[in-house]
Amino acid sequence: QGDSDEGIDYMFKIVMVGDSGVGKSQLLNRFVKNEFHMKSKPTIGVEFLTRTLVMDHKLVKAQIWDTAGQERYQAITTAYYRGAIGALLAYDITKQQTFDHVEKWLDELRIHADRNILVMLVGNKSDLSSIRAVPVEVAREFAQQEGLFFLETSALDSSNVESAFVGLLSQVY
Ligand code: GTP
Ligand code: MG
Repeated sequence: QGDSDEGIDYMFKIVMVGDSGVGKSQLLNRFVKNEFHMKSKPTIGVEFLTRTLVMDHKLVKAQIWDTAGQERYQAITTAYYRGAIGALLAYDITKQQTFDHVEKWLDELRIHADRNILVMLVGNKSDLSSIRAVPVEVAREFAQQEGLFFLETSALDSSNVESAFVGLLSQVY
């Protein structure tokens, strides 16, 4: 995919966090490759993908890191967060517990990440709104209180995926 940094004006690191199964890897897959897999396996370890975008006539390379939400695979250390200027914190709108754990992930960010890191809270699986557990107003209000950006997304039907990543990057940039 052209890993040369030639002509790149800015390089930004973004980290994905959130419980297992909320769709972190598929959000990333959708954003970088425009692909989606229903049979996505839990992530083990850490991986990253990059996508280069033109923003304001500048070439911006986003390096997006993804890791396991499952506790037993979690080896999240300071190294994962090092240098990250933004975080995409995802929960699943059909699973209340994944929203309840958002505070836990925020604590994690506060401990390990840069104190000025920008956070985009993402309520994923908006295509499943018929079996929604987390009301959008509750999430929006929470995000407002915590000073987070907020969007509902669907990696399956693509809605707001571009906006979530690009919105975060444009705030940094
Ligand atoms: P870990 O790697 O274990 O932390 O999980 P993850 O957050 O990366 O979840 P992953 O992307 O692997 O997705 C988990 C399951 O949810 C898979 O079966 C995906 O196909 C499904 N999924 C992800 N995003 C969506 C979505 O927007 N809508 C629907 N309906 N399913 C989704
Ligand atoms: Mg994953």
